[in-house]
Amino acid sequence: MPSRNRETWERPPDLPETHYVDAAAYADPDIFADEMSRILARSWRFGCHESELPDAFDFRTIDHAEVPLVMIRGEDGRIRTFYNVCPHRGAKLFNDLSGNARLKTCFFHHWTFDWKGDCVSRPRPKAYDDMNLRAEDCGLREVHTDTLYGLVFFNLDDRPIPFADYFGDALASFERTLTEEPVEVFHYHQAVVRTNWKQWVESNMDHYHEWMHVMLRRTNVLTEETLFKRHVELYPYGHIMFRGMQIDYQDEATVVPREQSKALPGLTAETFHSTPIFPNTVLMTRGTVMRIDTTTPLTPDTSLVEFRGLGLKNDSEEDRIVRIRQHNEFWGPMSHNLPEDLFAAEQCAKGYRTGGATYGIICREENMSAQDDGGMRHFYAEWSKWMGRPASDPRTKAA
Ligand code: FES
Ligand SMILES: [Fe+2]
Repeated sequence: MPSRNRETWERPPDLPETHYVDAAAYADPDIFADEMSRILARSWRFGCHESELPDAFDFRTIDHAEVPLVMIRGEDGRIRTFYNVCPHRGAKLFNDLSGNARLKTCFFHHWTFDWKGDCVSRPRPKAYDDMNLRAEDCGLREVHTDTLYGLVFFNLDDRPIPFADYFGDALASFERTLTEEPVEVFHYHQAVVRTNWKQWVESNMDHYHEWMHVMLRRTNVLTEETLFKRHVELYPYGHIMFRGMQIDYQDEATVVPREQSKALPGLTAETFHSTPIFPNTVLMTRGTVMRIDTTTPLTPDTSLVEFRGLGLKNDSEEDRIVRIRQHNEFWGPMSHNLPEDLFAAEQCAKGYRTGGATYGIICREENMSAQDDGGMRHFYAEWSKWMGRPASDPRTKAA
């Protein structure tokens, strides 16, 4: 195979346009701005798990969406999402990551709001009477919020795609796991990653990179036999399910043994499922634990990733310790697996950021078995639809 010169390096690959991605999709600031308004501002996005808001008036702020947001569980049990912005003069209302507040009074001029977002008091309101600025015109800005199997999603669009249509059956495989027994978030950490947001999402769609992970090589994931027992399923709106991986933990001396009795409902202790939900959330299980990643674009080449670990709420103290170890050994910040993925995403970003890389190749076809690139092609077909331009040539806007 000969090396290439400038002309042959920059020439689009001789592949169907669905089978490669132009580097501009990862680096161009105009394309990034378009992604914000066409995809992130219109899609259903994961906010938190309802166990993070167990009681009435519990709130949780989301500071890294394009606008600051706050999710609040109301007295009626419903979770609502609001702009975390005072309608008087724009001050940020809630400053803590989480807490409990029956009413929220803005620190600045003391307008006060309830859990429905209604403005319930303004100091000395009579001076507004001449201008007819009524309290009912001073409520918070609410955004659409809905919950599926305890996962709380928000949508910044006033007229969003109907929630049930958007998800369809894409998360049905997790229904038992998330609902048969109460689950809760027991782990949360964030990482700012020097990579485009899609490159982090790709790390859970590109199973061909499994060769990189020492622990996957050691736990029998990469034999010819197991590779072809796994498959990729595609769902409407760009969602994907990777199913069929069974991980053999028992023969690996350096990992915590997994007992069948501690498997999450609907899973064996060996089951690995992974479901990227378009555009920026991934759910995955390793038998006894679940992980949820949410990737928020900050700049074209910087992303904030939130990592959550979930397990059974009714764990004994001892069981919880074991579950935390089983989570952290693969998915914690100092684990076998996660730092390798972070390293890879940042390394790829260097190629795109410098202009050195020209195209990403996603043309593997293996009957949609484990290492077929069909999942990534599905994601980029959806991306192209929302963006009105093909990922293979994103500088050219479609009509
Ligand atoms: S800015 Fe909030 S009350 Fe004035
Ligand atoms: Fe990985």
